[in-house]
Amino acid sequence: MHASSYAKAEAFLATYGAELDFSGPPLRVLEVGSKSYHAQDTYRDLFASGRFDYVGLDIEAGANVDIVPSNPFVWDELSDASFDLCVSGQTFEHNPYFWATFAEMARVLRPGGFAFVVAPGAGHVHRYPVDCWRFYPDSWAALATLMGMELVESYFETDDLAQRVEGGQWRDSVCIARKPALDGAALERFHTRLRRIVAPFADEIVPIAKAPPPGRFAVAYESEMARRAPETLSTRLRRLRFGGAGKLYR
Ligand SMILES: C[S@@+](CC[C@H](N)C(=O)[O-])C[C@H]1O[C@@H](n2cnc3c(N)ncnc32)[C@H](O)[C@@H]1O
Repeated sequence: MHASSYAKAEAFLATYGAELDFSGPPLRVLEVGSKSYHAQDTYRDLFASGRFDYVGLDIEAGANVDIVPSNPFVWDELSDASFDLCVSGQTFEHNPYFWATFAEMARVLRPGGFAFVVAPGAGHVHRYPVDCWRFYPDSWAALATLMGMELVESYFETDDLAQRVEGGQWRDSVCIARKPALDGAALERFHTRLRRIVAPFADEIVPIAKAPPPGRFAVAYESEMARRAPETLSTRLRRLRFGGAGKLYR
């Protein structure tokens, strides 16, 4: 996890932490996509104090993973309204059916609980185990509307910060959403709606599709582009500046 993603989670806690109620038992936190690949690369350290009870969930077993759900998109292991906070970083882009995961996050949150998600809006292909999506500010509005969640804030790394911060090239997009403070029949209706959203994934585990290798389209397109634009912009600039193929420094 890049430093600026961690900094976003720190800023979330610094700003919205005041709205969390620490008067009772430790707040239950679920991190989705919690597997640790390097030292200090998940949000766990932010929830290390006795005020929180942290659970890490991932589709792969490993360091920092407490739960591998038997169905990655329908978490039968987790009860409705059983977490105060759901956080996820650098995971939604790797999740072919992220809307099902967001529906499950909404279901397991208690009414009034927060979802905090960081996912990139740019960046090179990197597979964990697949790389499916990038997110913009309005992505979260669409997702929150589908789930009936309240979108509290949506953020996109600014052009300026993208050039200054570590990890800025990922153009992180941030969702801060809240489960509506419903109870009784209204809460049951909310959960029923979420179950309908994940229903297509309930009976069978949908295999994660990997992209096929480049085919006839890729060959046709790339050879036509090689004809139309035989040189890169920097090669062209060097040629115009120095003539011939040219080198930048002579
Ligand atoms: C790039 S890693 C990020 C791990 C960690 N959050 C970090 O920032 O370093 C993406 C993680 O998402 C997990 N993942 C992919 N699809 C998932 C899904 N449907 N539900 C939960 N985790 C998923 C992968 O197994 C992987 O561990």
